[in-house]
Amino acid sequence: MNRKKIAVAYSGGLDTSVMVKWLSEKYDADIITVTGILGKTKELDGLEEKAYKTGASKVVIVDLQEKFVNDYAFKALKAGALYEGVYPLATAIGRPLLVKLLVETALAEGADTVAHGCTGKGNDQVRFEVGVQSIAPELNILAPLRTWEFNSRDEEIDYALKYQIPVKVTKSSPYSIDENLWGIAIECGVLEDPTVPPPDDAYQITVDPKLAQDEPEVISIGFEHGVPKKLNGQSYSSAELVSVLNFTGGRHGIGRIDLIENRIVGIKSREIYEAPAAVILHKAHYELEKLVLDRETFRFKQVVSDKVANLIYDGLWYTPLFEGLMAFVDAIQKDVTGEVTLEFYKGNVNVLSRTSPFSSYDKYLATYTPEDTFDRTAAEGFLKIYGLPYKTLNLVSNKTLEEV
Ligand code: ARG
Repeated sequence: MNRKKIAVAYSGGLDTSVMVKWLSEKYDADIITVTGILGKTKELDGLEEKAYKTGASKVVIVDLQEKFVNDYAFKALKAGALYEGVYPLATAIGRPLLVKLLVETALAEGADTVAHGCTGKGNDQVRFEVGVQSIAPELNILAPLRTWEFNSRDEEIDYALKYQIPVKVTKSSPYSIDENLWGIAIECGVLEDPTVPPPDDAYQITVDPKLAQDEPEVISIGFEHGVPKKLNGQSYSSAELVSVLNFTGGRHGIGRIDLIENRIVGIKSREIYEAPAAVILHKAHYELEKLVLDRETFRFKQVVSDKVANLIYDGLWYTPLFEGLMAFVDAIQKDVTGEVTLEFYKGNVNVLSRTSPFSSYDKYLATYTPEDTFDRTAAEGFLKIYGLPYKTLNLVSNKTLEEV
């Protein structure tokens, strides 16, 4: 009989390293580690060797950076998806793509089971498991962190030492950090106290806005159908464009977010985010939509943005509602083409100018000079009709001025 095979979502950190060995022992299984690269991080150095040394029978590492930005981050950008108004959803957007890679690998390798290293009180377990159920319901899912015998990091380290699992037991960061091109999430340690401002060492890629350079920097972003394509007139690949903005925005202290957020599992958590590129691109994209979209579409888009953000956060990427709302989003991005010029200055992104061949801003309709083409005499009839329901209501309700 063939040995059991388990595909494991693997980062190379302590949890997933211990998990590889633990699963192979407990299930007497061959372990295939699966890693999707969504941004360059230190964890990637020597990852393949480490996975084999840890006991993997096969190691799959795929660079998904362009795919991640094109098919995931820029979808969220077009949708205007910001959770609870501010969080650009970096971690949440990465999960569905990692799920897809995990499932594809499991099916290709003949594994009937997948495993992840998410904890039992976070959002990521939901995104992994609902994601797998939505695209490959035949697979079994294991979440060892919810069931295994280890109660602390130290116990995991003891296990790692016992089985000679290569883990870096350097001075561990007081924070839990998740990073990809669309942003960084920082939690735990002193951040768990919502009365305490984040210490400077919590931030990884942005400088303190107060200490940022005194010279402002001007950059123009060119969009085609809602997708950013150019910086200062020069074309970039999607992942490159985001990297450049993370770097440039980061040195101006742009993209720091301190959020008390509602988790799926019912608790509130305090999270610090750094997302210079996402913050800059959302601002520029929204600015272009203001110029191009008609009023009703613009208003309805805001409802859709909020809904899409909730769906992404809640792990409902591979669902009919998400697909349907994204079809709406794509339809209205047709004319979101043009250029937005921004100034970066001490943590702020200021819009200097916006232009589009599809702009419906008409200077002659807007102006208060003699060049005005707006027919103000038409306003009189418009207002008679527009106010009519309320005029009628007041006449029948007989409310006194004190009562209104
Ligand atoms: N709270 C954020 C989210 O749910 C970030 C989660 C970070 N995940 C992590 N494993 N550190 O999207």
